[in-house]
Amino acid sequence: MDKFIIRGGKKLSGRVRISGAKNASLALMPAALLAGGTFHLSNTPGLQDVATMSSLLKTMGMKIDLNGDVLTLDTRGVNKHEAPYAHVKKMRASIYVLGPLIARYGKAKVSLPGGCAWGPRPVNLHIEGLKKLGAEIKLERGYIVAKAKQLTGAKIHFDISSVGATGNVMMAAVLAKGTTLITNAAIEPEITALAEFLVKMGARINGIGTNQLEIEGVDELHPADFETIPDRIEAGTFLTAAAITGGRVTLENVNPEHFSAVTAKLEDAGCIAEVQGSNFELQAPAELKPVDATAVIYPGFPTDMQAQWIALMSIANGTSIVTDTIYTDRFKHVPELERLGADIELKKNAAIVRGVKKLTGATVMSTDLRASASLILAGLVAEGETEVLRVYHLDRGYEAIEKKLRAIGADIERVSGKEY
Ligand code: EPZ
Repeated sequence: MDKFIIRGGKKLSGRVRISGAKNASLALMPAALLAGGTFHLSNTPGLQDVATMSSLLKTMGMKIDLNGDVLTLDTRGVNKHEAPYAHVKKMRASIYVLGPLIARYGKAKVSLPGGCAWGPRPVNLHIEGLKKLGAEIKLERGYIVAKAKQLTGAKIHFDISSVGATGNVMMAAVLAKGTTLITNAAIEPEITALAEFLVKMGARINGIGTNQLEIEGVDELHPADFETIPDRIEAGTFLTAAAITGGRVTLENVNPEHFSAVTAKLEDAGCIAEVQGSNFELQAPAELKPVDATAVIYPGFPTDMQAQWIALMSIANGTSIVTDTIYTDRFKHVPELERLGADIELKKNAAIVRGVKKLTGATVMSTDLRASASLILAGLVAEGETEVLRVYHLDRGYEAIEKKLRAIGADIERVSGKEY
């Protein structure tokens, strides 16, 4: 297992190119199951999660190769309709194969992501939505076993706005007979990108970008090429790195509209931001103001930036409250940040962050993707040396993060090898 060693105190400055969006790629790739032929997905990020999705789709018979940032998928050999536990336990997004498999092949056997359908990371909205389209679904020994001769359009309302459930049901509805109306659909940019890709494949979808999607089912779809949207969370993470180190960074190849809530918070904290077409420049202030943040659905402040925001606020000049309304238990980074000297009090799904003058380097443990990012950010500003262990969590969702950070002045190195 690799670890990072970071020597804090360097102001970041320079330009960094943001990669394609992990959470778009993880939906676009399984969408290719909906048609036979060859697809090209450009601006695909080189991430562990993309490799995991690739290996899952290959076990189904899909031919996939990544050349630079162009992912080529040939779906003509797909002959297996299962997502085994080995894959799904590594990555929850594997469940995105469920909708396309039922829609195109009439059957699917997909492992539940750890736990039960209604457990810690539930998938009940996926199952209930697909049942409304006419799929027969049983839960057997930790697997979702589904079959459907022909899906039929339906009215589906999501009680909770769910990115994954919206994506799965939309990918099934495009081949259903008749019209499907999805209300309270997720409007995250990655879902909008998926809808646009499906339309390029011949699907008929109205209301794209809104929380009401009307889908006219078609008999068949065809392959298409698509450029993956930039990763708004990677962008927000690098902006927060500039802010926490007091630096000045320009992001290249971003869509600033996709992280406007993060920009607003950074400006409230005293940063100066400037949109330059598809580039975005941020200048940090000498001293950060404390700014409350509440993670909500898009276009609000994203839950995937909650950990990074707590890291930033840990050295602000005052107290702030960071609340997560999406995942009320997503705070495993807090005890690790406290090892670096942060002063944080957890109260249910909120963190009360009392800014301290300085953080001090220590050994800390990554627990999940965005928690790891928050530890890197804190290490960049902590005095002395910080060791971040188990950085495989980071490699799931950030392409070559240490190389990108070094290129803008961070003192960070990856140490590979033995058990840490
Ligand atoms: C997507 O996960 C993202 N992952 C997550 O990013 C992100 O945190 C999340 O959306 C919220 O924005 C991908 O896109 C691959 P949800 P997803 O269904 O689809 C509840 C990262 O760091 N829910 O929108 O799994 C759920 O418990 C990852 O890149 C149900 O109750 O999230 C949560 O409270 C982490 N039943 C809320 O909805 C369901 O059937 C939102 O979850 C499904 C979800």
